[in-house]
Amino acid sequence: MTTAGSDKTFQIQAGGKLTGEIRVPGDKSISHRSIMLGALAEGTTQVSGFLSGEDNLATLNAFRDMGVEIEGPTDGRVTIKGVGLHGLKPPAKELYLGNSGTSMRLLAGLMAAQKFDSVLTGDESLSTRPMRRVTDPLATMGAVVNTTDAGTPPLRITGNQNLNGISYDMPVASAQVKSCLLLAGLYAEGQTCVTEPAPTRDHTERMLQGFGYPIERKGATACVKAGGKLAATQIDVPADISSATFFMVGACIAPDSDITLQHVGINPTRIGVINILKMMGARLDVTNERDVGGEPVADIRVQSSELKGIQIPEDQVPLAIDEFPALFVAAACAKGETVLTGARELRVKESDRIQVMADGLQILGIDARPTNDGMVIQGGQLGTGTVASHGDHRIAMSFAMAGLRANGPITITNCANVETSFPGFVELASVAGLVIQAS
Ligand code: S3P
Repeated sequence: MTTAGSDKTFQIQAGGKLTGEIRVPGDKSISHRSIMLGALAEGTTQVSGFLSGEDNLATLNAFRDMGVEIEGPTDGRVTIKGVGLHGLKPPAKELYLGNSGTSMRLLAGLMAAQKFDSVLTGDESLSTRPMRRVTDPLATMGAVVNTTDAGTPPLRITGNQNLNGISYDMPVASAQVKSCLLLAGLYAEGQTCVTEPAPTRDHTERMLQGFGYPIERKGATACVKAGGKLAATQIDVPADISSATFFMVGACIAPDSDITLQHVGINPTRIGVINILKMMGARLDVTNERDVGGEPVADIRVQSSELKGIQIPEDQVPLAIDEFPALFVAAACAKGETVLTGARELRVKESDRIQVMADGLQILGIDARPTNDGMVIQGGQLGTGTVASHGDHRIAMSFAMAGLRANGPITITNCANVETSFPGFVELASVAGLVIQAS
């Protein structure tokens, strides 16, 4: 999983502090869904705060390839001329989704319900990621989606099937699987219900509601039926709490830091990082809470903190699933032991985030022991060295923040994929006080 980001290296100078008020780019999950639902709506949807990262552009281009007229992104603004639920056109070629698991899993559900065939492909990392979690339940609905023998992409989808609704109990807590099935359910006969074993991000459900599509939500179950319509709307995408996380952790671990992150999405299904950092003793205040188009938003102030190691409660894992690379760095700077369990999913993200983070922390002199489903980390002094990000954006940005507390420079390889979720990271981190160079 290493080639995609092989052309960029980060050099971090030890020390520094994070200060000021910054706004990180838009939420990746919400940006994906804004394109998908905007394209399927009737009328013109205006999006602001859109994340122009490579993952979201992959989704945007896929819809352009299916005949949807989309203007932008220009300064975060995108205009989508919706074609309605039945207006997508057969793409002339394979839909290439780069590094983006969200694009592939959500589109799998949508494409399986279309009248035409399609093929979904991705980069080297995405081509190793498990897809049976979506293709198995889709097959139960009557969809025809082929994977490789290993259950990985490309996905070859034979359209023009009559899908039937199912009631599905998800074995893994996955918003991507839930969203995939709900999107297929917009076209299925009868009702499609998905029950999750633990709360996962609910942006799809909220946004369907925002587009006026009937969706029933009761406890852990969400249900949709075909026959409704999506009405074009306006979407203001909040800043991504997953991108804000790097600065939250950086400010906690760097002496004399005091930073405010503006307009951050604090959807309750995403705030595991806030809960966990607070449990570790972070000086973190959530202020100016407000509702923006059905998603809660706030400003988050973080000051240098004396972190302590904790046993991370398993119920927080799905709520912080993308934040563990950064949280491992926080744990490395905390007093005592931090133990994470119940997070096996981290092994099948853009990289094996348990192994890759443990390897990098060990290179930097930290006692970090990977386990099957988590990690045990003894807080200590971060040292100097060269660590591999394996082309995983969140690993690269997490180790960049580690430089704030290291006693020597840190070099991070394969960082180009930071562009998938956080364009402008190097510039923004520099403004905030990290001494970082990309080459
Ligand atoms: C996402 C869901 C999560 C997350 C990913 C984005 C989404 O994946 O890791 O970055 O937008 O639905 P899973 O649902 O597979 O845990």
